[in-house]
Amino acid sequence: MTDVLVHPEAPAAPEHVAIFRKDYRPPDWLVPEVRLEFELDPDRTKVRSRLKLVRNGDHNRAIRLAGEGLEPLAVRVDGAEAPWSLDSGTLVIELEGDDATVETEIEISPAANNKLMGLYSSGGLLCTQCESEGFRRITFHPDRPDVLSRYSVRMSADKTRFPILLANGNLIGSGDGEVGRHWAKWEDPFPKPSYLFAMVAGDLAANSDRFTTMSGREVALNIWVRTRDLPKTAHAMDSLKAAMRWDEDVYGREYDLDLFNIVAVDDFNFGAMENKGLNIFNSRYVLADQDTATDVDFDNIAGVVAHEYFHNWSGDRVTCRDWFQLSLKEGFTVFRDQGFSADMGSAAVKRIEDVRLLRAAQFPEDAGPLAHPVRPESYIEITNFYTATVYNKGAEVIRMMRTILGEEAFRKGSDLYFDRHDGQAVTCEDFVKAMEDASGVDLSQFRLWYSQAGTPQVAAKLDYDPTSASATLKLRQRIPNTPGQADKQPMVIPLNVALIGKDSGATVGEERLILLNDDEESISFFGIDESPLLSINRDFSAPVMLAVERQDGDLEKLAEIDANPFARYEACQELMYRSLIEGTRSGPADPSAVVAAIRGTLRSNELDPAFKGEALLLPSEGLIGDRMDLVDPDAIHRSRESLRTAIGSELASELAQAQSAIAAGDDLSASAKGVRKLKTVALWLLAGGDRDRGLAMAKAQYDRADNMTDRQGALSVLTSLEGPEREAAFADFYQRYKNDSLVLDKWFALQAAAQRTDTIDVVEALARHEDFGIRNPNRWRALVGNFAANQWAFHHPSGRGYRFVADMILEVDRMNPQVAARQVPSLGRWRRFESGRAGLMRAELDRIVATPGISRDVYEQASKSLG
Ligand code: ARG
Ligand code: ZN
Repeated sequence: MTDVLVHPEAPAAPEHVAIFRKDYRPPDWLVPEVRLEFELDPDRTKVRSRLKLVRNGDHNRAIRLAGEGLEPLAVRVDGAEAPWSLDSGTLVIELEGDDATVETEIEISPAANNKLMGLYSSGGLLCTQCESEGFRRITFHPDRPDVLSRYSVRMSADKTRFPILLANGNLIGSGDGEVGRHWAKWEDPFPKPSYLFAMVAGDLAANSDRFTTMSGREVALNIWVRTRDLPKTAHAMDSLKAAMRWDEDVYGREYDLDLFNIVAVDDFNFGAMENKGLNIFNSRYVLADQDTATDVDFDNIAGVVAHEYFHNWSGDRVTCRDWFQLSLKEGFTVFRDQGFSADMGSAAVKRIEDVRLLRAAQFPEDAGPLAHPVRPESYIEITNFYTATVYNKGAEVIRMMRTILGEEAFRKGSDLYFDRHDGQAVTCEDFVKAMEDASGVDLSQFRLWYSQAGTPQVAAKLDYDPTSASATLKLRQRIPNTPGQADKQPMVIPLNVALIGKDSGATVGEERLILLNDDEESISFFGIDESPLLSINRDFSAPVMLAVERQDGDLEKLAEIDANPFARYEACQELMYRSLIEGTRSGPADPSAVVAAIRGTLRSNELDPAFKGEALLLPSEGLIGDRMDLVDPDAIHRSRESLRTAIGSELASELAQAQSAIAAGDDLSASAKGVRKLKTVALWLLAGGDRDRGLAMAKAQYDRADNMTDRQGALSVLTSLEGPEREAAFADFYQRYKNDSLVLDKWFALQAAAQRTDTIDVVEALARHEDFGIRNPNRWRALVGNFAANQWAFHHPSGRGYRFVADMILEVDRMNPQVAARQVPSLGRWRRFESGRAGLMRAELDRIVATPGISRDVYEQASKSLG
């Protein structure tokens, strides 16, 4: 089925104006109270609003209430009709006194809302998404995060179609209305910004549970889904309770309402949303059982449930003054959810995963045309700034503060921050100040992490002098130029360092924290009686790119003996990069060092399977490209395949053994997950050594699987192979899951990720498949997002990959600009490629920018990518 593009909200000429952080001004008017009344209907929903307004400061400026696509049907000031005007959507009213009550009435159509911002319909539900600026699509309001109000909401709807009516806070009344309708009234006692408003109406069933907080208060918990999905909510509920307990134990944060609701919806622009007391989730981060969800899905659910729950304090109770401060809540909350996941499973493996994500998503962003500081200075469309920089680099910045201050002082700092700013809308500066005040540590220079973009590059070299039994570590830092930022100042870079005896393998002295804060520094170590190996940036203590000058054999040794699992993993990866990059230059490189490291890892008795699974994974083609001056997708692919072949053939028996291990599908322990992870990585390597054997083993793994992890793992190997086994497995998978949209997303994603010469043909055909549609963001991303992340296929020298992605961006942009804009950066990396590909990529960006009526979202990303 091809989607017919109806266009209810044909974009008016978009205003592509930049907004600057330096222009922040406090709001002219405060809104202590908001009263809303909804007569809900998918086609015509009536919204009546009553705002209590209070003049803020001594001025005579009019009240300006933001609106997007709203027609006022009535406007009353203090109960009487009053003059008003509309200024490109914004409702402007001159008010006499220092306070006033403004009532407005509008009508909207949730069913016609394809942007999935504001009030929209998804699979028969009515639901909302307001962050960042969706509330203005529901009613007129200042709609900025520093205007906090108490909300009361009355909603009414058809009782049969929408038996459940939810909003923020507490239910304070409900009853039947006329002609088959009913109503509910909700009140949220906590003042909140409009971006945290939420409402849901639909035919939902709840998995209900309870949680007793640390002070003994009872909280009712509900996870609302379609009745048939109820059996898939157990893991999300367990995760929620674990997160609530963890936030009490680790941060002393207690939940504050008597009720906590989560709703799963199928059409959602991103992961989930932390609306006060009513979190709304993309259903892929709620629903799971062993037959339909992988271990990674289970872990993602736990992480996202925790993330949104943690926002109740880091985001809701203390919120952002303006959107430039987004990392205040997102960086901190990502850091908190990372800590939760680390505590629930293996901390070392979690750190490896987080760092891999940072390198794959954030480092390229920081090195490209869309680079921006963790606290940006300007934006055209704020939605474009929900980035890996704001989220993941932001989390690294918080982590560095904890490393520098120590755990205890960091906790004091977070207590002070929550205490001092409870109920306020504040800035990143306020957070750092609380950390400083609680610890007595001066973080002046550290603040550069908020303002300077670009990944710092650190060079390190260790010299050993046996006569004086001392070693000298020379460090240098350089912060690359980024758009609009040159000549940067040196930053504070916390580096965890240990010296390890080359012969004894023992750590010499203690691990040490070095704060590199000049361009160049020399650090001395004394009492070193044997030649030392440098183990540096252990646990990735700083988000930097490190170049260490080493002697032959050092990395091999570190990969074998470093007691820090993360550092050991890094040494193993460095060996792989070395061989892979050499392979891109001069044909297959000598694989023996990598093979030896992998053999050692596989045979080790002290390392667990989950760690082994990580350590055996070759760096992705994208990550290899990031290390080259110019990305050569074909050479990278050949080099990686040839290393894979070497490993697969030389270690066939060890790998086969790892692949044959079985963990029961219903066993979700860390060790069972580790066994499954290693199993598929081993299968993939084996298939590199012997394709026919790989085909047969993968098909057998698929057929025997009693869980989605093994099944999807088998398909992830089969997808790049050729043979009847592949076709049979994919056909079976489709038949089995065609009615489960989250699993069907995997079917699309796996084919889009195939490393085959015909992937572009397959992907083009899938875009015409009856199960493909562009209204559902998950489905669109499964196909387009995974294809664009498939370096070798996407960068097909013909440029067909670029054309396909650009076409898809333009098509979805007419419906949902946010989803479209997210995909632009894949084309924006053109400078990293040889002139042929670069020209083709640029041409697609040019075509996008020249298309009449493109959204502000896509315009900003595409024009900055060209600039
Ligand atoms: N605050 C939500 C989260 O936890 C994400 C909101 C994304 N909003 C957006 N406009 N992209 O992480
Ligand atoms: Zn968040």
